[in-house]
Amino acid sequence: MIQIIGLGKAFKNETQITFRDTTFETGRSYMLLGASGCGKSTLLNMIAGVPSPTTGSILIDEKDMTAVSQKEKDRFRIEKIGYIFQDFKLIDDMTTADNIGILKLEGIDISGMDELLEVLGISEKKNAKIRHLSGGQKQRVAIARALVKKPDIILADEPTGNLNFAIGEKVIQELVKVSKGKTLIAVTHDDRLSKYFDEVIDMNEMTSSTQDTLSGKEGC
Ligand SMILES: Nc1ncnc2c1ncn2[C@@H]1O[C@H](COP(=O)(O)OP(=O)(O)OP(=O)(O)O)[C@@H](O)[C@H]1O
Ligand SMILES: [Mg+2]
Repeated sequence: MIQIIGLGKAFKNETQITFRDTTFETGRSYMLLGASGCGKSTLLNMIAGVPSPTTGSILIDEKDMTAVSQKEKDRFRIEKIGYIFQDFKLIDDMTTADNIGILKLEGIDISGMDELLEVLGISEKKNAKIRHLSGGQKQRVAIARALVKKPDIILADEPTGNLNFAIGEKVIQELVKVSKGKTLIAVTHDDRLSKYFDEVIDMNEMTSSTQDTLSGKEGC
């Protein structure tokens, strides 16, 4: 369970974001919707331990993660959090297996890799270089890499942002399936995907932010 309590983030450029108190239950999937600049990525990043909030707390299984050392936060992220990035963050010149195998350097057991590749339908791409995969296949590799450590928490920041709707929908269905029993928080702009999640959280209602006046961006 993740509890957001009195959370606020102020950036040096004077952007300030205040988050409404929220609880993410273990075993449930959440879709985060909200205008650009609302603080969706900032929230996921703070749950992952970087950056630290300016005010308030993030409790994970009742432990205040904002009160522990950066080293402990980093360890927690490596062991317990699977983070899926919009732009995959895979190494193009390496194969699928090597992109996942690299996690062994962090002490992560990757013995579940083959099963995950199978479930995600990309077994035959195990020894293919990332540069030879389609966008949907790359996203599945990114999901496999995030999930292989059997994380308790899965954070996905626009995991289908680079995919067309039909492929994105399939990837979301697979992501929800492989995340069963865990806490899944996925940011997506597409409310057609909301039916696949247990709950939809509108970040426009969850945050208030004072934007950097120089940036000219609209507030939430
Ligand atoms: N490192 C940073 N330094 C300064 N301001 C930042 C930083 N990171 C984010 N912000 C600001 O905080 C606000 C929230 O940003 P964030 O990336 O969390 O939004 P978002 O909801 O993920 O938007 P998008 O849908 O465009 O990805 C924005 O106004 C952004 O400019
Ligand atoms: Mg974002």
